[in-house]
Amino acid sequence: MHRFLILNWKLNPPTHAEAQRLLRDTVHAAKRVKQTTVVVCPPFQYLFGFVCRQSSVVSRQSIHFGAQDCFWESSGSYTGEISPLSLHQAGMRYVILGHSERVRACGETDEMIGKKIIAALQAGLRPIVCVGEDEHAHIRGKRASMLFVTKQLHNRLYQCSNLSSAMLAHIIVVYEPSWAISTVSGNVADDPTDAATMIGHIKDQFKKMGLSSLHEVLYGGSVHAGNIEPLAAHAAINGFLVGHASLYAREIRTMLAACEKT
Ligand code: PGA
Repeated sequence: MHRFLILNWKLNPPTHAEAQRLLRDTVHAAKRVKQTTVVVCPPFQYLFGFVCRQSSVVSRQSIHFGAQDCFWESSGSYTGEISPLSLHQAGMRYVILGHSERVRACGETDEMIGKKIIAALQAGLRPIVCVGEDEHAHIRGKRASMLFVTKQLHNRLYQCSNLSSAMLAHIIVVYEPSWAISTVSGNVADDPTDAATMIGHIKDQFKKMGLSSLHEVLYGGSVHAGNIEPLAAHAAINGFLVGHASLYAREIRTMLAACEKT
C-alpha cells in the first residue's frame, strides 16, 4: 500500500556539510522505493539550497521537500516569518504545521494553526497537520486522550469546512502524541494497536465533521528502525513522521524497507 515517510530533521544537523551528506544518503536510500512517498523536511538554512540544486542532487525525483512551518500571510510587516507562497514558488510541496514543539516553544494556538492550514492550501502546499494528546491527557487514559484529539481536530480544521473536496484531500494529518516524541529524551512510541485505534478515531471524526475527503493519517513519535514493522502492520496507518531516526542512513533504509513491504 502507498505510504508517506516524512523525515523531520528539526534543527539538525549542525553543519552544511553534514546536511549535504545526509541528503545524499537519503536520496540513495529512497532510490528504489515504489510505493512510499519520501518527504525530507530540513531546517530552512538548508532547505532552499537543496531545492534549488534539486536537479543535480535529487535527479530521479525519488524524494520531495517540505518545510517545518510557514506563516499565514504572503507579505506584510511580519519580521522573521516565511510565506507559503514563497515556499511553493521555490519548489516545496509540503509543510508541517502544528507540531507540538512549536506549540510548546512558540505559543502557537489552534486558531493560528488553522489559518496556516488554509494559507498553505491556497498556496498549493500540502499541509502535514500534527495532532496528539499531551502527557496529562495520556495519564488520564484513552477516553481523555480521544477527547483531547477530537477537540484539537475541530479547533484546527473547522476553518476548512468551506473548502472543496479536492482541496481538502491535500491535507495529511499526523497523530503524534507529544508524550511519545523524541527517543533521545527516553520516550517510547505508542503501542501500535493503540496508535491504529486513535487513527481510526481520527478518520471517524473527519466524517462527523463533514471532511470525508480527508483520508491520510500518519503516526509520529519515536518511530525508528527497531519499532516500525509492528506499526506498519496496521493498514489504518498511512505512513510515519520521523524525527531523530531521520538523521541516520541505516535507520532510513530499514524504515523504507518496512514501508515498502506492506
Ligand atoms: P521523534 O520526533 O521521531 O524524534 O520522536 C518526531 C517528531 O517530532 O516529528
